[in-house]
Formats: sequence, C-alpha cells, structure tokens
Amino acid sequence: MQKSILIIGACGQIGTELTFALREKHGNENVIASDIREGNAELMASGPFEILDATNYEAIENVVMHYEIEEVYLMAAMLSATAEKFPMRAWNLNMNSLFNVLNLAKEKKISKLFWPSSIAVFGPNTPKEHTEQNTIMEPSTVYGISKQSGERWCEYYFNKFGVDVRSVRYPGLISWKTLPGGGTTDYAVEIYHKALEEKKYSCFLKEDTLLPMMFMDDAIRATIDIMETPAEKIKIRSSYNLAAMSFNPSEIAKSIQQHIPEFKISYAPDFRQQIADSWPSSINDNKAQEDWGWKPAFNLEKTTQEMLKNLK
Ligand SMILES: NC(=O)c1ccc[n+]([C@@H]2O[C@H](COP(=O)([O-])OP(=O)(O)OC[C@H]3O[C@@H](n4cnc5c(N)ncnc54)[C@H](O)[C@@H]3O)[C@@H](O)[C@H]2O)c1
Repeated sequence: MQKSILIIGACGQIGTELTFALREKHGNENVIASDIREGNAELMASGPFEILDATNYEAIENVVMHYEIEEVYLMAAMLSATAEKFPMRAWNLNMNSLFNVLNLAKEKKISKLFWPSSIAVFGPNTPKEHTEQNTIMEPSTVYGISKQSGERWCEYYFNKFGVDVRSVRYPGLISWKTLPGGGTTDYAVEIYHKALEEKKYSCFLKEDTLLPMMFMDDAIRATIDIMETPAEKIKIRSSYNLAAMSFNPSEIAKSIQQHIPEFKISYAPDFRQQIADSWPSSINDNKAQEDWGWKPAFNLEKTTQEMLKNLK
C-alpha cells in the first residue's frame, strides 16, 4: 500500500512544486495538499486539498488521522522580509507550526517529518565564504532567529524522543511556476518576469550583493532525496547546509542579457539590503554530499535558460 503524505503550506513557492513532484511519485490521492488559503488552479485540480491552519494542533491532528498520514512536509512560514515587518506574528507562525508537527511525531501519530531551515540562520559574524556546516551562528533577523531556534528544537526532539525529522538550509530559490512569498532573494525571480515584460528591472539589492541561490528543481530533488535516505545515514538532525551556485544582481543581469541584449538593470537598495548583508555569500555543503549524495544540477546559465523559456 502507498504511504500517505501531508504538505502544510502547499500553496507557496516551494509547496506548489513539491506537491506536484510528490503526487507524480506517490499518486495524486496519496498526497494531501493543505494551506490556510487556496492555491493555483492546477494545484487545486491535481488532488486532495484541505484548508488547514499550521498553528492549530487539533486541526492538523484531525487531518492526519482522517487520511492516515505517515509523513508531513511543513512549508508554512513567514519569510525574511515580511517577518521584519511583523515580528511577533512571524515568531508565532514559524515556531508553533514546527512544535505542532514535532509533537505529532513525538506522539507517534506520524513517522517522519521534513521542515526547512534557511541560510538566514547565519548572521553578520559568520565567515561569509564557503560557510561551514558548524560555524558562528548569530542571526540578526526575526526570521533567522526563528530558523535557528527551529533547528535546535529539531535536534532536541530527535535526541530526546527519537523523532525522525530531516531538514536542509535552503538558499534563495528561483522558480517560474509560483511567485516567491516575501523573502530577501525574491529579486532573482522578479528580474526574469520584468526582463520579459518591460526589458528593465529596478533591483532592491546592490549590484555586488553575492548570495547563495538554487533553481527550484534542485531544491525539490534535495527535499525528496533527504526524505528517502535511510534514517541511519542522516547524521545531522538540526539542518544540512545545501548549495548550488552563488551570484550577484549584476551577474544575473548579464546572464539575462545573453538572451535579451536590450535588458537593463538599475539599483535602488531598500531595507532588504541589510538582511542580505548579514547572510553568507557561499555555502560549503560537503556534509550533504557525503551523507546522502547531494549534487546540484543547475548553474546560473541553465537557470536563466529554464526561467526565460518557461516564462515566455
Ligand atoms: N523560497 C525560498 O527562497 C526559501 C529559502 C529558504 C527557506 N525557505 C523556507 O521554505 C519554506 C517554504 O517557503 P516558501 O518560499 O514556499 O514560502 P511561501 O511564502 O511562498 O509559502 C508559504 C505558504 O504557507 C502558507 N501559510 C501561511 N500561514 C499559514 C498557516 N497559518 N497555516 C497554513 N499555511 C500557512 C501561505 O499561505 C503560503 O502558501 C519556509 O519554511 C521558508 O522559510 C524558503
């Protein structure tokens, strides 16, 4: 019999594509998408959907019991830029949603769980280049503080209660199916839309802001791969560093100009510059490579080709 999977926060940038990928693999009926709001038409038509508030333990428990869920992917969160505007709401959502699924696993109501962390766990005092798995972690954003706390709790629940929780620190994610939801790396998606629509883009980060990034197909593959790896191979139960490429706004603009020569970029940094400046410029993901065979497939050139081809 196929196992049943629940995705919480399924209508967002990652959740939408993760839902399609898991449905393809496990069958539409076995993957329950849920969110506090409805998603796009393609997602809604592709299989079972529940309106579900990630901060409501009883509501999640009811869905888990009803569908006999074995695995949960928790994608609901408030992202870095929005969280700076609503700190308490961000803390409440990001922490309580995680406690809800950790406690369901502790109570043995689900057997496995995925929760994403972020490069935002690092802070201004972290060495910026090839940032190691274990290094200084003093995040200076509300979002980063919530992710770092989340990592500590995941490891604690694994050590104390044997909860099978798995996590990666996603870099900024680039996708064409769904728009990003209020992060600091959103520029790297907006720029492709504007390049095609207006042939120009005003970037909210400075031209030399180098950040770790990844194409969505790689992120989805990493997520499914870490969940399918035998438990004994998952040595890190806080969260794994994960990397694919690093670029700055000027480099992504140049890669777009290879395809749209008249494209122009200008720069008008806003409050997100300070967030970006507190993050690493590149990530060392040796542990993910060693423990569960991680290898990215998309560099900047391939990402640009995919984005422009699909958004056209
Ligand atoms: N996208 C990135 O670049 C990136 C990078 C690093 C980490 N992450 C992490 O990955 C996860 C998913 O990110 P995303 O980019 O898909 O975010 P998103 O903002 O696009 O999607 C989040 C989804 O959660 C839903 N949601 C909000 N409050 C909810 C609630 N109370 N109950 C249920 N659903 C609720 C939203 O409606 C939305 O559909 C988050 O934990 C995020 O921190 C994302």
